[in-house]
Amino acid sequence: MTKKIVVFHSARGGAGKSTLIASVAVALMQAGRRVVVVDADVYQPGQHALFSLTRKKSDLTLNSYLDTGESLRDAVYELSNSLRKIVGPHAPMSGELYLLPADQRIDAIRQVWDIGYDPGRLHIAIQRLIKGMSLDFVLVDTHPGLNPNALLIASYSQLLYLVGCVDQQCADSMEYVIYALQRLSDHQKAAMIFTRIPSSVNPANLTTSATQAFKMPVAGILPWDERIAAQRYDSLPLLDAPDSPWSQAVHALAEQIQHDALH
Ligand SMILES: Nc1ncnc2c1ncn2[C@@H]1O[C@H](COP(=O)(O)OP(=O)(O)O)[C@@H](O)[C@H]1O
Ligand SMILES: [Mg+2]
Repeated sequence: MTKKIVVFHSARGGAGKSTLIASVAVALMQAGRRVVVVDADVYQPGQHALFSLTRKKSDLTLNSYLDTGESLRDAVYELSNSLRKIVGPHAPMSGELYLLPADQRIDAIRQVWDIGYDPGRLHIAIQRLIKGMSLDFVLVDTHPGLNPNALLIASYSQLLYLVGCVDQQCADSMEYVIYALQRLSDHQKAAMIFTRIPSSVNPANLTTSATQAFKMPVAGILPWDERIAAQRYDSLPLLDAPDSPWSQAVHALAEQIQHDALH
């Protein structure tokens, strides 16, 4: 069976996970896939900003669905057409891309911190979207760290990617997140992705040492990108600088994910 539920988790915030997910989603769309990004980081939403999604206050979000269990499809926003306008009519973008955003208003964020939400309901939402929208992939952006809801969502995944960087704090926190995840579930396929990697780090050495240390394969290594760090792209980096080392690494990762989904 093709794996469609792809969860990206990270042991620490600021690892580069949300930037990576948005870019991989576009790369999968360019490869002809039907993709929904779910911003399940309801405590610190970010995907709406990466995709420059403009919404009215009354518009529905993942939060409205988690509150009531209703209006799921109306909370999913189509992004493909605006992305096609950015790249022009001749670029290959034959797939479709949608976003189920989290509510970025302070009241909504306070509510999830105070009351929480039911991750089981999110799992049902993902399954309904896959079926109802004939999706190839649902990419889920979690809240980082050892929080119970994110770990449960990770345990619902069919493919799980742990996004990390190379500093010692990142490595330490990666170790205990892997430990917690293995205690929750051992059924899903998991691999690591490293991002924000300085050019001084040799990717082959990093792959060898990380595989040995964490007993997990490495699915991709994405370089540090000065323009991403300085927020100097007009749109998504993948579209603005399609030939940059970052963009090439994202396309390679999207291919790896499609491969992992089949095996
Ligand atoms: N490859 C990269 N090179 C340089 N900076 C990056 C890279 N990827 C992400 N960033 C920057 O790092 C910060 C954290 O990224 P973000 O994707 O929000 O991380 P997370 O979702 O893990 O918290 C942002 O300012 C982002 O622009
Ligand atoms: Mg994030």
